[in-house]
Amino acid sequence: MPFRLWSLMLMCLLMALAQSGPPLRALAEKRNFQIGAAVEPSLLLQEPEYARILAQEFNLVVAENVMKWGALQTSRGQYNFALADLLMDFAQKNRMAVRGHTLVWHQQLPRWMYGSFSPAEMEAILREHIQTVVGRYRGRIAYWDVVNEAVGDDAKLRPTPFEVLPDYLEKAFRLAREADPQAKLFYNDYGAEGLGPKSDAIYALLKGLKERGVPLDGVGFQVHVDLGFSPGAVRMAENLERFARLGLEIHITEMDVRLSGPGSRAERLEKQAQVYREVMRVCLGQPRCKAFTLWGFTDAHSWRSASEPLIFDADYKPKPAYLALQQALQRP
Ligand code: GLA
Repeated sequence: MPFRLWSLMLMCLLMALAQSGPPLRALAEKRNFQIGAAVEPSLLLQEPEYARILAQEFNLVVAENVMKWGALQTSRGQYNFALADLLMDFAQKNRMAVRGHTLVWHQQLPRWMYGSFSPAEMEAILREHIQTVVGRYRGRIAYWDVVNEAVGDDAKLRPTPFEVLPDYLEKAFRLAREADPQAKLFYNDYGAEGLGPKSDAIYALLKGLKERGVPLDGVGFQVHVDLGFSPGAVRMAENLERFARLGLEIHITEMDVRLSGPGSRAERLEKQAQVYREVMRVCLGQPRCKAFTLWGFTDAHSWRSASEPLIFDADYKPKPAYLALQQALQRP
C-alpha cells in the first residue's frame, strides 16, 4: 500500500479515537488547568454545533471582539453590552471562566478616540471606561487583558491615542484593580513567546511595573504562529521561566497555527499538530502556566480562516491538532 494511503488511514483512525476520547475540558479540569477559546457570541445563537462544542471542550472563554472599545463604546459615553452580556450568560450557564479582552489597545478603537484630548481628559475617558466595563462584570471575569500589545516589533512602546496620558499603562492597571479587586490583571502580547528583543522589552516593562507596585498578576503570550514555529528554537521554556520568576501567572492566550506552507496536506496537518503539542507541553511544564487559549476553535470561524489555523475543521471535525492537545493533556 502506498505510504500516503497508510498515513491517511492512520489519521482517520486517530480521528475516530479522538472523537471518542475525553473532551479537552475534562482533561484540563483533572489537572486544575484552563483550556479556552475566543468566541463571537452571535454564533452561539446562529450555530448550535458551535455552542455545543464550545461548552463541551473548553472551560474558559474570551471575547474575540465584543469587549473591545470599538464594540463597547461606539459613541463617547454610550455603551452597548448586548453581545458581551450574551457571552457572560453562556459562560455562567456552562461553568466557564471568562477572560476580558481588552482595556488598553492601539487597535479597534472607536473613531472618537482619535480626537485631541488633554492628559486630564484622557485620564477621565480611561477611568470611565474601565469603571463602567470592569465594574459591570465585577466578580464574574477571572482575568482581564488590561494592556494589549503596548510594545511594538521594534521593542519600543507603540504610538497610541492613550499616550497623551504619560503613565497610561500604570493607570490602567490601577483602575482595573479598583474596579474589580478579584480579577487577575494581565499584560498580553504577540511575538514574545521566545527570547529576543521584543520579549526583553516586555520583560523590562513588566519588571518595572512590579517594582513600582503596579497591580499586575500575569502575562499572556498570544502565540499566533505558523508551521515554522518551534518553541525549542526560540527558547520558549526559558523565556516563560524568567517571567515566572517575576511572580507572574502565565497564560497562552490566542494560539493559532497557519497551515500554509510546503508539503502535502497530511504532512502539514501533522506539523500543525506538532506545533500545538509542543507549545502545550512547554506550558504544562511551567508550574505558573495555568491556561491555554486558542483564538477560536473551528476553521469555519477564524480571523485567518483561509489558513485553517485551528483544531476543529470547518465542519467541526477534530483535526490532528485536537488529538495532539488531548494527548498532551493526558500525559502526567
Ligand atoms: C490580536 C488581538 C486580538 C485579535 C487578533 C487578531 O492578537 O489581541 O484581539 O484582534 O489580534 O484578530
